[in-house]
Amino acid sequence: MTLASSAAVGPPPGMAVRLSSNESPYGPSPAALEAAARALAEAHRYPDDQSLALRTAIAEHEDRPLEQVAVGNGSAAVLMDLVAEVCAGAGEVLTFAHAFVVYRLAARNAGARYLEVATGPGARDARDGYARDVDALLAAVGPDTRLVCVDNPGNPTGAHLTGEQLTALASGLPDEVVLLIDEAYHHYATAQRGYATVAELDLDHPRVVVTRTCSKAHALAGLRVGWVSGPRELVSAVDARRPRFNLTAPAQAAAIASLADHEHLARGVRATLDGRRRLATALRAQGVQLTEGLGNFVTVELGVPAGPVVDAYAAAGVGVRPLAPYGLHEQVRVSVGTEPEVTAFLEASSAILPPPGTPPPGVNAL
Ligand SMILES: Cc1ncc(COP(=O)(O)O)c(C=O)c1O
Repeated sequence: MTLASSAAVGPPPGMAVRLSSNESPYGPSPAALEAAARALAEAHRYPDDQSLALRTAIAEHEDRPLEQVAVGNGSAAVLMDLVAEVCAGAGEVLTFAHAFVVYRLAARNAGARYLEVATGPGARDARDGYARDVDALLAAVGPDTRLVCVDNPGNPTGAHLTGEQLTALASGLPDEVVLLIDEAYHHYATAQRGYATVAELDLDHPRVVVTRTCSKAHALAGLRVGWVSGPRELVSAVDARRPRFNLTAPAQAAAIASLADHEHLARGVRATLDGRRRLATALRAQGVQLTEGLGNFVTVELGVPAGPVVDAYAAAGVGVRPLAPYGLHEQVRVSVGTEPEVTAFLEASSAILPPPGTPPPGVNAL
């Protein structure tokens, strides 16, 4: 039996090369594994409901007071609570087209409206696509807009706002509208193409919140640790919505150790950026259009419906992500894997992806 949720998490277990979920392929920090194992031996005890040691570590890491940090089962859980808190009932969530799908799900669960502002077209002529226009977003703010969500960089397009654009967005937004900047992929974006984190900017807006996660560069996706930081009252209201004892003790312990292991993090990020470059360069050399955004993935323009292409990759043992839930029907997202995984993907691609202007072999017949 196929579980309904399997479509959301990528290829079935056992697929040799899993490039469908934007995970780190390098594994957790050894220190995080040791800390989690120690905590596991105490599994008969409840975890710290307040996640105090972890929140303290995050607060120090982000140079904020402890009361400005709340944690959840991944940043997705925190996002659900944030949208419920800010928009429940009549509010509207505003974001860019093809934004992270959880904003839409959270709006639906909260009974809020959800509105997307169009982005530029996909990649063309070896140039990245999906450019975001801050003026268009600001022009779409209406009387019911309560929350503006920007995944920066974005998933699945990899598009980003520069520090300058983010500054303009914050200044142009009415004070009562909450501005969420989702920095799930910030480690992969730092110091490139004008990107800046909220912490590096001095944004002129009273209600900016930031979400971050241990699921990407920290390589702890399976332990589900994410957080929100921002104004004290709002963070505290979001925190009040979480289930009690939400983070397990192994998850808390692993996240603390991972935050302290700068070397492991930096090695993984460096290898990912090398892999992203290699993926983009090799595909472009094959004539494939793609966006090499600032995440740990590339977004490939197929020019044909994605379904059969995804199936062809799966038959070659490679999982890539179809993007229909994002309104992108002729694109796939490919996460950066280890060096051998990228090699396997590229080898499969030379058979599966067409030279420009021709349908891919095997796809025609379907
Ligand atoms: C933009 C963005 N934000 C947040 C998340 C959520 O990550 P998690 O719930 O694992 O922290 C993801 C995961 O893919 C993402 O792509």
